[in-house]
Amino acid sequence: MHAQISPSILSADFARLADECARVAGFADWLHVDVMDNHFVPNLTLGQPVVERLVNAVSTPIDAHLMIANPDRWAPGYAEVGCRSVTFHVEAAADPRSVARNIRAAGARAGMALKPRTQIDDYADLLPELDMILIMTVEPGFGGQQFMADMMPKVTRTRELLKGRPDLDVWIQVDGGVSDSTIEQCADAGANVFVAGSAVYNAVDPADACNRLRAVADAAMRSWSA
Ligand code: DX5
Ligand code: ZN
Repeated sequence: MHAQISPSILSADFARLADECARVAGFADWLHVDVMDNHFVPNLTLGQPVVERLVNAVSTPIDAHLMIANPDRWAPGYAEVGCRSVTFHVEAAADPRSVARNIRAAGARAGMALKPRTQIDDYADLLPELDMILIMTVEPGFGGQQFMADMMPKVTRTRELLKGRPDLDVWIQVDGGVSDSTIEQCADAGANVFVAGSAVYNAVDPADACNRLRAVADAAMRSWSA
């Protein structure tokens, strides 16, 4: 298993989105797009029409992170417009199992995100419906916040649950405060997909930042990955 880097465009220049995405093309495995609705989180970013345009304007696959109320209603649409991965928050979903099924049916990988106070064990029965678990390492809503190292036991616990289900192939993503100085502990704990916003887009060379992050993560993942 190799480390995958998903730069969050939340820290990019929104007036030049396609250009900003192009700066990491060929270096990023995914482009992480943070959709916020000012209800589930106290911030507002962009919605499905802009995401659809981005899908068509960039070559890197889009990893949509929906921080929105009622994903039951809205999440499958992001798959329908071409996002290759669509992640919803379990705290916002009325029926997480059908959200995941509907995302998959619309052709995308289904991800389920957990806020810092949400425990994975409460949702272990949903793992077969999922392609990715997103463990938030900040409270969702804003870029540039401080990394919560106390989320690492949750990452380790999720990896442990997955080791008991070799029939499944579920990725573990971390998001929030991931940087040169924090990515190693995430990879060590069992994450394999790494979202980095400010660490990539505030860097002088975002492409180079992706490579550096991936190299550190790949080395640390060797402790548990075959
Ligand atoms: C926070 C978002 C993150 C954010 C990460 O709610 O989900 O994706 O952009 O930004 P950094 O890496 O700066 O913490
Ligand atoms: Zn995010």
